[in-house]
Amino acid sequence: MPRHTEIFGSLKIHEVQRILKVDSGGFANPRAKDIPFDEIKDVLRRTAIIVPVKDERTHLLEGVLRAIPFDCSIIVVSNSKRETPDVYRMEKDMVAKHHDLTQQEVLVIHQKDPDLGSAFYEAGYNTLLDRNTVIRDGKAEGMITGMLLAKSLGKDFIGFADADNYIPGSVREYVLDYAAGFCMSKSPYSMVRLHWRYKPKVVEERLYFQKWGRVSEITNKYLNFLISTRTGFETNILITGNAGEHALTTELADILSYARDYAIEPYHFIGLFDEFGLGVEDITNVDAANTGIEIFQIETLNPHIHEERGDEHVNKMLLNALQTVYHSKLCNDYVRSKVLEELGDILKDDMPSKNIVMPPIGNIDVQKFVGLLEGNAETFARFEQGLGAAVAIENEREKRE
Ligand code: GDD
Repeated sequence: MPRHTEIFGSLKIHEVQRILKVDSGGFANPRAKDIPFDEIKDVLRRTAIIVPVKDERTHLLEGVLRAIPFDCSIIVVSNSKRETPDVYRMEKDMVAKHHDLTQQEVLVIHQKDPDLGSAFYEAGYNTLLDRNTVIRDGKAEGMITGMLLAKSLGKDFIGFADADNYIPGSVREYVLDYAAGFCMSKSPYSMVRLHWRYKPKVVEERLYFQKWGRVSEITNKYLNFLISTRTGFETNILITGNAGEHALTTELADILSYARDYAIEPYHFIGLFDEFGLGVEDITNVDAANTGIEIFQIETLNPHIHEERGDEHVNKMLLNALQTVYHSKLCNDYVRSKVLEELGDILKDDMPSKNIVMPPIGNIDVQKFVGLLEGNAETFARFEQGLGAAVAIENEREKRE
């Protein structure tokens, strides 16, 4: 159970919770929450897990797909290379094979498919488009695509799992952790964010079980700073500012705004603070404000081992995160000066530029959106649960010709 919950306006941010047993025994304990597996199963059936992928090793992607519990639907949104050798083609073939063997429901699409761009354009949602045609590069852009597909399947919960994970068993745990969070939630507007217990690194030929990544430590510090300066009481409640592994209810997904690329996760908080935080006067969503928005932070049992990227990538993520803080309505001159100090040489211009913010997706007619993809988008395929590969709905033009 969380020991403490910080109430910040309409937000209820629960302190980190730990997994005591992945599979528990059903004993009552006032300090721990036991969640029966049939309740978890019920949530899994109503969940889609989105896997954003860009040029990862197909082996890793396959491990992730195999680890996602069967009851969930899987949505792979790829931005991988299409030139020879066509990485997306390999991913799609692997997905088809995975479905053939497991019969799990899987949807797959390429982010740069021009028909996907047109479907967004038709939906009047063009902030993620480049020159109103194709979707820009970026992880958030892939995630938004995935969320619309999840909605078209009528899912109540949407989760994310990165494709570069070396430990498939950890992915299985993440999905169960999401479901556990939703079983504890009392609000239809809720989010579960995971904190990796360790992120091991090789140091002097030995594994070192590091607890914090550089970016996440700094992002959390500044997000907490925003809350502290507004309430007047210092807090360190937030430990999941960058949580790539997170899940949310579709009702919350519908009302959030999204920052682009790697800023999406820290911006979840900034958007929520600006709209539902303490002292906000112009409440746009009265129902969510009155009901309350719950945020669970769960420390995983498994360590997280993924592809390591260089300093340039890490600096980009830090800049993306602190830009969101800098431009938050809650940010005062003091916090702004601290952000500038923190960014130092990483900052190329005088001031952090504003993130492009993509509006809520709640008003998009998802059936029309998917209707435009089916029968048109060359890269889109939907392999339905239990139907077998032979009757999968595929749009590949060469197949139709
Ligand atoms: N569809 C799509 N489009 N996927 C992308 C893109 C893109 O343009 N760019 C990256 N991805 C995929 C990657 O292939 C991977 O599966 C996932 O998004 C995460 O990207 P990484 O580049 O591996 O990010 P990271 O490991 O440094 O950071 C991750 O963890 C952070 C901390 O939790 C990301 O999930 C961050 O968003 C997160 O803050």
